[in-house]
Amino acid sequence: MTESMRAALYDRYGPPEVIYEGRRPIPERGEGRILVRVLASSVNGGDLSGREGSLGWLGALALGPFPKAVGLDFVGDVVEAEANVYGPAVGDRVWGVLPRAFGSMAEYVSVPVDCLVRVPEGLDPVHAAALPVVTTAITALRDKARLRPGERLLVRGATGGVGVGGVQLGKAYGGHVTALAREENLELARELGADRAFDYRTTSPADLGSFDVVLDTVGTDLPAYRRLLAPGGRMVTISFDLTRPWRSLGYIVGSTVFGPRRVRFFSGNPRRELFEELNALVEAGHLRPVVDRVYSLSEVAGAHRALESGGVRGKIIVDTST
Ligand SMILES: NC(=O)c1ccc[n+]([C@@H]2O[C@H](COP(=O)([O-])OP(=O)(O)OC[C@H]3O[C@@H](n4cnc5c(N)ncnc54)[C@H](OP(=O)(O)O)[C@@H]3O)[C@@H](O)[C@H]2O)c1
Repeated sequence: MTESMRAALYDRYGPPEVIYEGRRPIPERGEGRILVRVLASSVNGGDLSGREGSLGWLGALALGPFPKAVGLDFVGDVVEAEANVYGPAVGDRVWGVLPRAFGSMAEYVSVPVDCLVRVPEGLDPVHAAALPVVTTAITALRDKARLRPGERLLVRGATGGVGVGGVQLGKAYGGHVTALAREENLELARELGADRAFDYRTTSPADLGSFDVVLDTVGTDLPAYRRLLAPGGRMVTISFDLTRPWRSLGYIVGSTVFGPRRVRFFSGNPRRELFEELNALVEAGHLRPVVDRVYSLSEVAGAHRALESGGVRGKIIVDTST
C-alpha cells in the first residue's frame, strides 16, 4: 500500500472549479473503525454548500482545515477491520455515510463500524452509491411524518436524490403519491410509482389538492405548501431557502407554536439500523437506486457543476476507481 492516496480537495471556498485532484495521506484505520478502499461516492447538496463556504462554523468544523476534502458517502471494499468485533470483514463490499465529516471522494476512508453496512447482493458500486441519501427519505416518511397506508403524500423535488426515494417509499408505505418535478422528469416520477405527477414550474400549489403528508426537499415557499395540509396533516422539510436561511428557520420554529400543522426539519446523521432498513427495502424490490451520470475522481468539479445546473435525475456519482 502506498503512503498517500488520490483525493478531491480544495484550497479555498468558491465555485466548482476550486476542486482539484490532489494527494493526502491514507488514513489510519483507528480503534473501532474500518478502513475502506472507496469505489464510488455521490455528490450531495451538503458538498456544494461546504465548498461554497455557506455551512457556517459548524460546517467549518466538519470540513476541517484547508485543503478541505469532499464527499459524505461511499461504497467500497473493506481492507482492514478489527478482529472479533461485529461488523463487515476484510473483502466485504460496504456502503455508508461519514459521521458529520467530509472526505469520501478519495481512495480510502476510515469509518466507525456503525456507519456502514454490506451492499445488497447484485448491486454494482455505482448504483449502491445512490442509496445513502435515501436514508433521509426513510427518516422523513417513517419517523417524522409517520406516513400511514392510504394517506395522500406530496413529494416536492420528486426526481432529486432524496425525492426518488421519497416517491418509492411513499408507495411502499401504502401512500397515494403526488410528485412535483420538472416537465422532462415527470415520466421518471411515474415510473418510480407516483400516482400523479406535475411540473412545479407551471403548477400552482393551490391546484394540487390537499395532503396528509408533504415531503419537501426544496426549502422555499413553505407557507404555500403547508396550506395544503388536511387536518392532522404533517409536513417535513429537509432543506432551507439558502437565500434567506434565518427566515426559513424562523418559519419552521414558528410553526411549532402557531397553527395546528407543524413543519418539521431534521438534519440526518444516519447509522447502521437505518442502512439495514434501506437494504431490506432494496432486497424486497421496493426501492431501486437511480443514477444520472458518472464522473471520475479527476472530474469532481464537473460533477458539482452538474448538480448545481439542476434537472438531475436521481444521483450524480463519482467513480473513485477511475
Ligand atoms: N436535512 C437533511 O438531513 C438532508 C439530507 C439530505 C439532503 N438534504 C438537502 O435536501 C435538499 C435536497 O437534496 P437532494 O439530494 O434531493 O437534492 P437534489 O438531488 O438537488 O434534488 C433537488 C430537487 O428539487 C427540485 N426543485 C428545485 N426547485 C424546485 C421547486 N421550486 N419546486 C419543486 N422542485 C424543485 C429539483 O428539480 P430540478 O432540478 O429537476 O428542476 C431537484 O429534483 C438539498 O438541499 C440537500 O442539501 C438535507
